[in-house]
Amino acid sequence: MDFQHPPISSEQLAAHWMPFTANREFKQSPRIIESAEGHYYTDHQGRQIFDGLSGLWTCGLGHCHPKIAQAVSEQARTLDYSPAFQFGHPKSFELAERIASLMPEGLNRVFFTGSGSESVDSALKIARAYWKKRGKGSKTKLIGRAKGYHGVNFGGISVGGIGANRALYGEGIASDHLAHTLLEDNLFSRGLPEQGAELANELEQKVLLHGADNIAAVIVEPVAGSAGVIPPPVGYLKRLREICNQHEILLIFDEVITGFGRMGSYSAAELFGVTPDLMTIAKQITNGVVPMGAVIAKQEIYDTFMDTGGAHYLLELPHGYTYSAHPIACAAALATLDVMQDEGVLAQVRDLTPVFESKVHSLRSCDVVADIRNFGLAAGLTLHSVEGQPLLNPYRVAMACWDKGFYVRYGGDTIQMGIPFRTTENELDLMINALGEALAEQSKDEK
Ligand SMILES: Cc1ncc(COP(=O)(O)O)c(C=O)c1O
Repeated sequence: MDFQHPPISSEQLAAHWMPFTANREFKQSPRIIESAEGHYYTDHQGRQIFDGLSGLWTCGLGHCHPKIAQAVSEQARTLDYSPAFQFGHPKSFELAERIASLMPEGLNRVFFTGSGSESVDSALKIARAYWKKRGKGSKTKLIGRAKGYHGVNFGGISVGGIGANRALYGEGIASDHLAHTLLEDNLFSRGLPEQGAELANELEQKVLLHGADNIAAVIVEPVAGSAGVIPPPVGYLKRLREICNQHEILLIFDEVITGFGRMGSYSAAELFGVTPDLMTIAKQITNGVVPMGAVIAKQEIYDTFMDTGGAHYLLELPHGYTYSAHPIACAAALATLDVMQDEGVLAQVRDLTPVFESKVHSLRSCDVVADIRNFGLAAGLTLHSVEGQPLLNPYRVAMACWDKGFYVRYGGDTIQMGIPFRTTENELDLMINALGEALAEQSKDEK
């Protein structure tokens, strides 16, 4: 197939091995996005498409925000790159201090990376190294959770709990998993589900099985995103924190989706009143404009590395990325935080949340919908499966939405929505109507 507009030849189409994409399907009928503005993409046919996932949970402030675009362009003309190791530039320090000021008390040391996956693997390495520095080098095992998504690097897939993302890749690193928190009793819960806090007690079983002396850290997404938006049962995260304290296990919150606005707060940790020892962030920190991630550590962890670092010219943590604290990413992040703070965006998210919740739950009447979950401006629908093909209905629904001019994500047996922070009620109505129609088209013949 050759595209007339834009000109993409079949050779070009073949050359790009696309990530997390069914390449054969895509290349039969490519969906090419040419430009974006605000809440809309423009595709290669000139159609306007509403961005119902804010990119990949990245662009909550809308696309091509003029203040962020200007900051990026100015930075590219002032300092495009400076070496990330052994030298610094002013904006990374400004940004680190700014991020720390928005975090719960004590979480105030920021290690920059280039993505969510890098943040996760950095946090896991910091956790293991921390115990070694404290003279407890046997504490290496990492505990994740079924249905957890922590990116695609080896640490992340080892603690991750989505089978399809692990199965092809052989041995990971030493890990174990808690049960997920999806319960029959909680179907169609609005916001946090009531049942299931006791599932956190499974961590005590892991301690009995492996020994606290051998466990470095537990990592969870406060609200699981990629598995289809799974908010934590009321009290679950607090219980995890208690057990971690009791057994000297570090608690890591992976806030790559939940950080910086989507929950109506700068962190889910703040919202839930549970402070982890390490937090990973990415995505929304630059509004998706430039790749960037970070690990935010408790000061005690940072101080441990400094206090045990040996001679002053030696590295305390032999770890980092060429693009850690990239100047253009720092400029984008500072502009993103300016927009959020100057324009009162968190309050807008909190105001929109109940409206979003009630409209999303109106889809319950569709036969094909098996469950609906929501928190902040994130929602997931589980769909009944076509016999033997659990992934088929979500794929069909998402494609039908695309044809109608709305982008939603399909993953596993779910449809996911993460609307822009300032979506209007009219935009929301149009998206829910289109999704309702797409769901109804499936439910006519297949459950
Ligand atoms: C919770 C969580 N952690 C890590 C990642 C990986 O981030 P990236 O794709 O930037 O490597 C994601 C991406 O969706 C995520 O949702």
